[in-house]
Amino acid sequence: MNQGHNELASSSYDSSQSKRKWSSLGESSSFDDESTRKARKVADHYSARSNQTLEEREASPIIHLKKLNNWIKSVLIQRYAHKGDAVLDLACGKGGDLIKWDKAQIGYYVGVDIAEGSIRDCRTRYNGDADQQQRRKKFSFPARLICADCYGTRLDEYLSNDAPFDICSCQFALHYSWSTEARARRALANISALLQPGGYFIGTMPDANVIIKKLRDAEGLTFGNSVYWISFDEEYAQKKFRRSSPFGIQYKFHLEDAVDCPEWVVPFNDFKSLAEENSHAFVDEYLKMPEFTELMRRLGALGDGNQDRSTLSQDEWDVAYLYLTFVLQKGGESSARKRKRENGNNRGKMYITEEDIEILGGDA
Ligand SMILES: C[S@@+](CC[C@H](N)C(=O)[O-])C[C@H]1O[C@@H](n2cnc3c(N)ncnc32)[C@H](O)[C@@H]1O
Repeated sequence: MNQGHNELASSSYDSSQSKRKWSSLGESSSFDDESTRKARKVADHYSARSNQTLEEREASPIIHLKKLNNWIKSVLIQRYAHKGDAVLDLACGKGGDLIKWDKAQIGYYVGVDIAEGSIRDCRTRYNGDADQQQRRKKFSFPARLICADCYGTRLDEYLSNDAPFDICSCQFALHYSWSTEARARRALANISALLQPGGYFIGTMPDANVIIKKLRDAEGLTFGNSVYWISFDEEYAQKKFRRSSPFGIQYKFHLEDAVDCPEWVVPFNDFKSLAEENSHAFVDEYLKMPEFTELMRRLGALGDGNQDRSTLSQDEWDVAYLYLTFVLQKGGESSARKRKRENGNNRGKMYITEEDIEILGGDA
């Protein structure tokens, strides 16, 4: 079994040097070219997705699904984030959750994503420089933005001075780590090392049980509806998956107006075992909380409760059921985290310039 624990390759990070920070913290011997190439493909897909205007967003065929997903993330954040928390947002994308973190009055935010285009958009959103209609007040927490492969980089080393984080979030993205065992292990090792004892790891990802059931119910190796399709290769023609090799089970996922790239099945029990190995305990697997229905109404996923009765189409609900939500808690007693942060150990800024974006492992 490849534990994926190699020495730090090298790091050119030095905040006192040039403004531009290029660092290499990959684990090249653990991560074969093939998995790096696939990670790049995912990055290119997301990088190329441009920011939508409000009108474009409202016209999306999956607008209600997007709102439902935002509701799910808002619930998770409201339930588990606390005032003053230090947050690590892995695969933060274009910063779609920044407002949610602001509402939770967090104290510090570090966003990491492999897609350079997304991190740049995240910067624009953080600075409040988005298009005029979306111009908003500045966020109240300092932030740091990093372009890196979260599952192939020693973030535990790179961010050690910012740790411990109170909460780590990985929304709609952990499944990209399941392409190899080394990458999945690196993902969970990074999270575990950076989280404070008692800290939460929250996230959403596709539910392997639903995907495999749909595959087995399908006639061929492709299934879906008007807004999405999933396609497996001939290699899975038997529709059987060996328990002994739970990593690298790839499919192609297409979701209208959102995703079009390779993804990997994350068998829940393997995820659970690996998380437990990294001293995390499961808190919640699914969230069903009626107290958040008002927020659901406000976000508009189910209409506004008055005139607007528009809601998710059946096809959008089918996609919604593909995902699950998880909450893990790192074992151990919470320690002197606030004290540490008061010492000023974060490198966050209230305005992030292009040069402030840190780029790790330029070849990832
Ligand atoms: C569906 S988007 C979700 C973005 C954001 N978390 C949200 O909920 O709005 C998936 C994100 O995962 C990022 N991603 C995929 N593989 C990654 C990796 N190896 N390291 C860091 N980010 C990754 C993509 O670039 C993309 O921004």
